[in-house]
Amino acid sequence: METRRFFLEQKDMPTHWYNIQADLPEPLPPMLHPVTKEPLTPPDLAPLFPMELIMQEVSQERYIDIPEEVQEIYRTWRPTVLHRAYELEKALDTPAKIFYKYEGTSQGGSHKPNTAVAQAYYNKKEGVKRLTTETGAGQWGSSLSFGCMLFGLELKVYMVRISYDQKPYRRIMMETWGATCVPSPSPDTKAGRDMLEEDPDCPGSLGLAISEAVEDAVMREDTHYALGSVVNHVLLHQTIIGQETMMQMEMAGYYPDIIVGCIGGGSNFAGMYLPFVKDKISGKKPDLRIINVEPESCPTVTKGLYAYDYGDVAMMAPIAKMFTLGHRFIPPPVHAGGLRYHGMAPIICHLHRLGFVEAVAVPQIATFEAGVQFARTEGIISAPETNHAIRVTIDEALKCKETGESKVILLAHSGHGHFDMAAYEAYLSGNLIDYAYPEDKVKEALKSLPEIPAT
Ligand SMILES: Cc1ncc(COP(=O)(O)O)c(C=O)c1O
Repeated sequence: METRRFFLEQKDMPTHWYNIQADLPEPLPPMLHPVTKEPLTPPDLAPLFPMELIMQEVSQERYIDIPEEVQEIYRTWRPTVLHRAYELEKALDTPAKIFYKYEGTSQGGSHKPNTAVAQAYYNKKEGVKRLTTETGAGQWGSSLSFGCMLFGLELKVYMVRISYDQKPYRRIMMETWGATCVPSPSPDTKAGRDMLEEDPDCPGSLGLAISEAVEDAVMREDTHYALGSVVNHVLLHQTIIGQETMMQMEMAGYYPDIIVGCIGGGSNFAGMYLPFVKDKISGKKPDLRIINVEPESCPTVTKGLYAYDYGDVAMMAPIAKMFTLGHRFIPPPVHAGGLRYHGMAPIICHLHRLGFVEAVAVPQIATFEAGVQFARTEGIISAPETNHAIRVTIDEALKCKETGESKVILLAHSGHGHFDMAAYEAYLSGNLIDYAYPEDKVKEALKSLPEIPAT
C-alpha cells in the first residue's frame, strides 16, 4: 500500500516559530521611516503594531515561542497534511516524486490564518479594540476576520476593487465573521479619494489598499493596522508550515531536491522554505533548489529593481529594501489577486541576492492549465495564486521525465480556490487572457522610487 498522506499528531505541532534572522550570513538591510528616511526604531512602528510584533520584526533569536492561546487555536486545523501526489506523478509519467503540503484546510481556506490568529492575539493582549487591513484576493481579509472574531476585535478591510468585484463571496465571508469590507480605492480615506479623482475606474492595487488601511489606523487611537504578508513577523508566523513539513518529509523518508511555491508578498512560500534554507546556508544541503514563482504580469523579483521603496502608494508605510516594480505600479487585473503586489518580502529578496533562492515568472493561462490538471488528478481545486506554483512543479517534473531523474519536488500548496470559480469558468470557456510584462508602466512607476541619502 502506498502512503499517500503524512500526518502529525496534535502534540507534535511545533511550539515555536523559526526566525531566519538568526542564521542569515549577512543581516537584513534596515527598514526606513517613510518621512525621515532614517532607520526605523520600534517606537516609530508603535502606532501601527503591538510591541510584541515589533520586537519579533527585529528579533535575532532563532526560535520564538508560540503563545499557548495561539497554539490552541492552531490545533483546530493544524498540523496540516503532507500529501504525495501519486496521481499527478502517474498522469505526467514522471520519475519525479511530488509532495505537497496543503494549507487549504484552515477555516479561511489558506495559510493566512497562521499569522491572522497570532496578530489578533497580540493586538488583543495590548488592549487594541479595532484593526484595519488591506486584502487582495480576499484570502487575507477573510482570515483576519476569523482571527478578529476569535478575540473580539472590530475589523475594517480595504479590498482591492478588482477582487471585490470578482469575488463577492470572500466579502460575504468577512461579513459573516463580523468584519466590514469596502472596495479600495474608497471614499473613506484621503489616499482613496485622491486615487478616485485621478482615475474613477481604478481597479486598485495592494499598495493602495495598504495606504488606506494605514491612514485609517493612524487616525484613530483605538486602532492598529495588520499586514498579511511581506514583513518579517508575518513570515516568521508562517514558518510553522516548513517546520511541520520537515518532520513529515522525514516520515516519508525523503529530503526535497526542489521546493516550489508562489510569491505575492512572500509569506506562504517563505514559511515553507525558511526552515529548509537554513540547511542550504549551513552547507548541509548545498544543492537544494528553491523556486519562487510569480506572475509574468507582476514580475517583481524577475524584472524589478533591488532598491529601497515604499510599501504603499501613498508613501505612508515603511520603506524597505526589496525587489520592486515601483510603489505607483498598478498591476494588470489577473485572477491571482494575492500576487499583485509591487514589492516583495525583504527576507526573500535578501536570500535571492545572496544566491540561496531563485525566481521565475509564469503567464496566467499556463497556470490555470496546471491547476486544472492538478484538480483532475489530485482532486483539489486550487487558488489561482497556488496554480502558479503547480505550473512550475509540473514543469520540473516533466524535466525529470526527459532526463530520467527521480528528483523529490515539494510544492507549497497555499490554499483552495472554491471562491475563484469565475476565474476557472473564464479559463474553461477559453476567455482567459495573458497579460504581457507591462514594461512601460513599470518604467514609469520606477521613476518614483525614494531618494535615500547615502550612509
Ligand atoms: C492562496 C494564496 N496563496 C498565496 C498568496 C500570496 O501571498 P503570500 O506571498 O504572502 O503567501 C495569497 C495571497 O492572498 C493567497 O491567498
